[in-house]
Amino acid sequence: MARILITSAIPYINGIKHLGNLVGSQLPADLYARYMRDRGNEVMFICATDEHGTPAELAAAKADKPVEEFCAEMHQTQARIAEGFRLSFDHFGRSSSPQNHALTQHLAGKLAEAGLIEEVSERQVYSHADGRFLPDRYIEGTCPNCGYDKARGDQCENCTKQLDPTDLIEPRSAISGSTDLEVRETKHLYLRQSTMKDQLDSWINSKTDWPVLTTSIAKKWLHDGDGLQDRGITRDLNWGVPVKKGNEDWPGMEGKVFYVWFDAPIEYIAATHEWADAHNKDDADWLRWWRTDKGADDVRYVQFMGKDNVPFHTLSFPATIMGSGEPWKLVDYIKSFNYLNYDGGQFSTSQGRGVFQDQALEILPADYWRWWLLSHAPESSDSEFTWENFQAGVNKDLADVLGNFVSRVTKFCRSKFGEEVPEGGTLGDTEQTLISELTKRIRAYEDHMDAMEVRKSAAELRAIWVAGNEYLQSAAPWSVFKTDPETAAAQIRLSLNLIRLYAVLSEPFIPDASARILEALQTEDDSWPDDIVTALSVLPAGHAFTVPDVLFSKITDEQREGWAEQFSGTRE
Ligand code: MF3
Ligand code: ZN
Repeated sequence: MARILITSAIPYINGIKHLGNLVGSQLPADLYARYMRDRGNEVMFICATDEHGTPAELAAAKADKPVEEFCAEMHQTQARIAEGFRLSFDHFGRSSSPQNHALTQHLAGKLAEAGLIEEVSERQVYSHADGRFLPDRYIEGTCPNCGYDKARGDQCENCTKQLDPTDLIEPRSAISGSTDLEVRETKHLYLRQSTMKDQLDSWINSKTDWPVLTTSIAKKWLHDGDGLQDRGITRDLNWGVPVKKGNEDWPGMEGKVFYVWFDAPIEYIAATHEWADAHNKDDADWLRWWRTDKGADDVRYVQFMGKDNVPFHTLSFPATIMGSGEPWKLVDYIKSFNYLNYDGGQFSTSQGRGVFQDQALEILPADYWRWWLLSHAPESSDSEFTWENFQAGVNKDLADVLGNFVSRVTKFCRSKFGEEVPEGGTLGDTEQTLISELTKRIRAYEDHMDAMEVRKSAAELRAIWVAGNEYLQSAAPWSVFKTDPETAAAQIRLSLNLIRLYAVLSEPFIPDASARILEALQTEDDSWPDDIVTALSVLPAGHAFTVPDVLFSKITDEQREGWAEQFSGTRE
């Protein structure tokens, strides 16, 4: 049994997220967490809301609520939606927690002790029209790297380059559009990550198994242009973690907070502390996941995120961890994703384009979305959601293949043998062929799941479902029954056991359907099939079951057209 620490990028608090956010981090992280638990490992699966920064302040202002209240409510909303999608976090924390305040201030203090923090008098953009300093992401302009004209002051969405607002060509306020901007003097803290370039470089070079998408982005920001830049880690805002050195005040930093991207990844650790506190556990219980001097040296730590998050997780956060000089656990593997597009364009939270997570759950159960999104995960390139494709995926894979197998077998059994596993007969060559195909495919499925190859895993699982249907087609128990009911009984006994096996294998993808199948089969045995022959004899002759209700109903053309229409505009 291994110990696996899994974190998903923590979603911003500023609103309800769309399906692209789900498939880019939380959902594949959940798939992996469920699979690792199913295989008998000890898992700690952590997520949280990313609550600081200007986006939170502006969203609260728009909702006409104090920012604390807005965040508390939106955290509840996001937690409810996560539950709706059956995301199996061990803890869903909040980056505004006292635990994160303390740890962020602690780490900043350690970095200062190590001489890695520099106080810089900085010239910052002040907007006369808006009457405030403009945070980086509220300045827009043209990217000096790729020429994209809607680049933000912190990062270019188009080429992923991390930017400073003064890098932008023709800058304007994203709040008012005003170009009446003035650069004023103010003091800020910088993390001297450039001094850690070699350390980061050799660390990344040692990760030879990382996906190309992850390492290519990391390498690009380490070596392109001027290479790794020092990063400002403080901001002139009210809402955030107050700038302190451990417990002590930081002279000259009064009224400032840490930059949201400094405290957000630290929340991975702090959320595990929150988990321990919420369950009345000791500090040792969360430290054993995070401190290599307290048991975390045998933990495997895997992070899931969209590609725009990669620079922060391969460079900035590791610089914080390494620079602290304390033995915190560094990530072992980073699984990153491209974007999911919506019907010929981008999903966009700010523009309200595409299907949002709450809306998705209102129209169909979680499993439908989980299956389609995961089987189309944007791994090697961006992928696209279209209603046609969604309808086809759900109807073919879930209804026609898996659902149909379950329904045919259980109904045939009920009508010929009654609602219990039939007795008698022996298995022949067709069954041996099926068993060796399943053995091969299940081992391949495990390999893909271990490697976090999401699409390949989905394809293999589907092939495992198809194998059952093909077996049923060639064994044809309904005609065998007429002349040889004993053999038909053996075939159906095997098929009922195969249904249980499907529930076990499919659990990481479609947990609700899996639970319903096991319930109908009246078994709690959800053990992983280490040996296929054993796994196919778990339900003995005489074991009672019930025929489940339709597992997946098909999406009709009418529904599809209605939804395409309903979600074509923008959401307000
Ligand atoms: N909130 C960020 C986003 O949605 C992700 C933060 S991940 C963290 O893109 F690790 F840095 F916290
Ligand atoms: Zn760019």
